[in-house]
Amino acid sequence: MTSRNVTDLIGSAKSMPGVESAELYSDTAAQVCRRSLELLFQGALTSVNKHKEQTILDIGCGTGEATNCLMQYLPFTKSVTAIDRSIEFIDYAREVNASPRITYECLNAEKDWPKEWREKFTMVYSNYVFHWIKDHNLLLRQINRAMKVNSDLLVQFFHSAQPANNEMMAAKRAAEDCGIVNEMQAAILAVKKMVPIWKDASSYSRLISSLGFVVKTCRVENRQYRCKSKFERAGMTVTVSPFMNHVPQDKKMLFATKYVSYLADPFIIYHKAVVVHAMKIRSID
Ligand SMILES: C[S@@+](CC[C@H](N)C(=O)[O-])C[C@H]1O[C@@H](n2cnc3c(N)ncnc32)[C@H](O)[C@@H]1O
Repeated sequence: MTSRNVTDLIGSAKSMPGVESAELYSDTAAQVCRRSLELLFQGALTSVNKHKEQTILDIGCGTGEATNCLMQYLPFTKSVTAIDRSIEFIDYAREVNASPRITYECLNAEKDWPKEWREKFTMVYSNYVFHWIKDHNLLLRQINRAMKVNSDLLVQFFHSAQPANNEMMAAKRAAEDCGIVNEMQAAILAVKKMVPIWKDASSYSRLISSLGFVVKTCRVENRQYRCKSKFERAGMTVTVSPFMNHVPQDKKMLFATKYVSYLADPFIIYHKAVVVHAMKIRSID
């Protein structure tokens, strides 16, 4: 954590979790995402040729920590085009996680991609972004267009979380302390309605296979992360949790700090992730 106060950091955050407070995200959630990237490399990525000169597209690069980490695993990487829809994240990444091999661009992956990207990349990678995507078919088509044949697609994204009872109790107690019981009830209802789009991996695997890829791995994995500090857990809650859409701006960090203090184990986060490794075998259009 830098010298800035956490409350100052979150003071500038807007209603969308995860995209507006770059410094807080970088200090907390990005560190957890980076560690989850290591799991991807220990699993799916063991079958990727690490000696290939890669031209990589990183979809939803955030503040750039994981993008840099990627190059440690693939040292022969020629270049990375790292895109994110948040200009605040991109500005932060350009300043703090710059590298001569990385070009950061502010781009919404759900919009049309530049024509120059056609068959440009030898790897497309994305870490904890696809759960935000509404139309996976469209995105995967754009990805297919942007990849060379025999290139790797490596993706992991949030599938679901099974909040433990004590997490709900902790949220309720924190809401009482912050005087936001009504907002919290709305948040709990909204989060309960969130059904994972991909209940099991086989439907996602079928979709990818139908779009010019051969699937090497596509599975839902149980994940367990150990946070390094209560601050990391609170910052992650503020910048990533969908609950936070319902918490008033000026109460977010207070709520998250109290929430974490009431958790039985504030250091462990459980969730499920969809993990995909596929190879493009043909162009679809
Ligand atoms: C949980 S963060 C993951 C960031 C980074 N990949 C990492 O591992 O730290 C999710 C990121 O996805 C970005 N994002 C969400 N939807 C996007 C879209 N349609 N196009 C581009 N970026 C998107 C958000 O702005 C945010 O930076």
